[in-house]
Amino acid sequence: MNPTSTAPAVALPATALPPSFRWGVATSAYQIEGAALEDGRTPSIWDTFCRVPGAVVGADNGDVACDHYHRMPQDVALIKSLGVDSYRFSVSWPRVQPGGRGPANPAGLAFYDRLVDELLANGIDPFVTLYHWDLPQELEDAGGWPVRDTAYRFADYAMLVFDKLQDRVDTFTTLNEPWCSAWLGYQVGVHAPGRRNFDDALHAVHHLLLGHGLATQRMQAAQSRPHTYGITLNMGTADPASDTDTDREAARRADGMGLRIYLDPLRYGRYPADVVADLAARGSAFPVHDGDLEVISAPFDLLGVNFYFGQDFAGTDPDGNTHDEQGDPVVRPILPDVARTAMDWPITPERFTRLLVRLHRDYPGLPLVVTENGAAFDDKPDASGYVADDDRTAYLAAHIAAVADARREGADIRGYFAWSLLDNFEWAEGYAKRFGIVHVDYQSQRRTPKQSALWYRDTITRTRG
Ligand code: NOJ
Repeated sequence: MNPTSTAPAVALPATALPPSFRWGVATSAYQIEGAALEDGRTPSIWDTFCRVPGAVVGADNGDVACDHYHRMPQDVALIKSLGVDSYRFSVSWPRVQPGGRGPANPAGLAFYDRLVDELLANGIDPFVTLYHWDLPQELEDAGGWPVRDTAYRFADYAMLVFDKLQDRVDTFTTLNEPWCSAWLGYQVGVHAPGRRNFDDALHAVHHLLLGHGLATQRMQAAQSRPHTYGITLNMGTADPASDTDTDREAARRADGMGLRIYLDPLRYGRYPADVVADLAARGSAFPVHDGDLEVISAPFDLLGVNFYFGQDFAGTDPDGNTHDEQGDPVVRPILPDVARTAMDWPITPERFTRLLVRLHRDYPGLPLVVTENGAAFDDKPDASGYVADDDRTAYLAAHIAAVADARREGADIRGYFAWSLLDNFEWAEGYAKRFGIVHVDYQSQRRTPKQSALWYRDTITRTRG
């Protein structure tokens, strides 16, 4: 039998976060929807990448995923049962605008219309992400994010969604984790489209940011009432592995490429001088046109923070070399020696507090919302599908406490979204890694809230007082 409430691993004081704090759960389109070729949807780069032998663990793909496209009303009822007030989801570009150009596909747009209505009918605030990695394949065939035109295509697509939903949706965020789109997709090649070229990735960074700015400006110009606009970045902390100049220099480089090359242009309209100099030294540069940085730094209202872990950086490889085979300085991540999740990611809640306080200090005046935080563990469901996930419960509790700590230190954090509502398609890891606070049996598509979901619900209830 499933318990109806929990004895939490860590009890958060009811007053740790104010009653106005936003509580939510998050998902993304390709990871949960399925219905990959229904109602006019055409392939994205992830549909293609999943077919590349060896690209995804288990050769998994998002064809069916959690079948959310067909189970949406039940999933909204599930969200409501968790006691959250907000739901962060992404809109699938190839569903709304197949091929990435031209008019909207009414059937695709209608799904999000129904989803928003269903959420509102259940008292849940829709929090929209416009791009969570599913670039239409036809745009990749035309060059993808390394090509400038993709930024303009993104802004056109954003307006199709905005025009349809702006009457009922308050919050529109443009991109989810552009670092991943650019570096994992175009340099490391472990995410779609699986290309490996440093300058392509660097150009992708600039065009993603330009797309954000263009879309934000156009939505602001077209709004019939005020909205909240934002962008979500994945960020960690980059500490030197030791107190040597070499390791401090590696940490500076990691911080520059991981955090400041997004936030400095977004907030201050310039790429960081040290990073620009590092890039010039290797013959690389951002493909900036006149006026781009004004567009990129268009005012916006909230920064979405996705946090999973912080790491240390060394400026030498294990053999002591300071440069790699290409002649680039070594920037070697070293995971802190603490407990890990099933992703092998270290559990570092105190670094989360530090990151949030630092964002508040270095980029003041920008309200923060934790748009993702959570953990994969090797869940062991009982016969009923229930998972007594003490590990995930403890992870969430420690990180929510870290948010409360950062607020006490002055950081303006308005909300927290657990990643993820459901176990889902974890990109290159396929279905093997489970981040859900709700267990999904992929055979039957049965959903069973885990202990962490029940703990989360109880925590929200106590916080609201
Ligand atoms: C961040 C991404 O936005 C999300 O799609 C992914 O599942 C989680 N990290 C966990 O890796």
